[in-house]
Amino acid sequence: MKSVPRLAVLGSGKGSNFVAIQEAIQAGRLAARIGLVVSDLADAPILTRAAAFGLPTATLPPSPFRTKLSPEGEAALVELLRRHEIEWVILAGYMRVVKEPLLSAFPNRIINIHPSLLPAFKGLRAWEQALAAGVKETGCTVHFVNRDVDAGEIIAQERVPVLEGDTPESLHARIQAAEHELYPAALAGLFGQSS
Ligand code: GRF
Repeated sequence: MKSVPRLAVLGSGKGSNFVAIQEAIQAGRLAARIGLVVSDLADAPILTRAAAFGLPTATLPPSPFRTKLSPEGEAALVELLRRHEIEWVILAGYMRVVKEPLLSAFPNRIINIHPSLLPAFKGLRAWEQALAAGVKETGCTVHFVNRDVDAGEIIAQERVPVLEGDTPESLHARIQAAEHELYPAALAGLFGQSS
């Protein structure tokens, strides 16, 4: 049997992008396999959703910093990913900045999705930034992860209109619907498959 890329999905939240990726795999739109789902938060819904698909899960031990892992914590994560023979690290709502040694362990193999048309609106709650800026259009971006937050090479983008009367919630929901299409399709393109 032809081997397919083996992914780990890292998330801190509800895991809707993880579900979109797993469903694309199951539907045959993405030839890949999720070998591990990891969260830095023990009660993150992404872990229960992964377990419901029968996928292996892991929780990272508490870190002394809120926005990143300690170098030792990241080294343990690299070890965990190696043990599961992971080839690609897929960030899906993972709320820690990726540092060393993870970056060097997976060069050009760490991918993220961000809820704006990068380089616009980097950082947290990008949909609120878009509303505050009064733009008529925003979107989502799949990109490589490097040491600069939300600044790695762009792989794919999808535009989303900002509508009259949008609230942060309505705009975020529209962006997320676009993310659920874009992320699996961008990964399929990246792995050299048609989606
Ligand atoms: C997404 O909106 C993504 O753009 C951002 O975090 C959110 C994760 O949502 N990086 P979910 O956990 O996949 O539902």
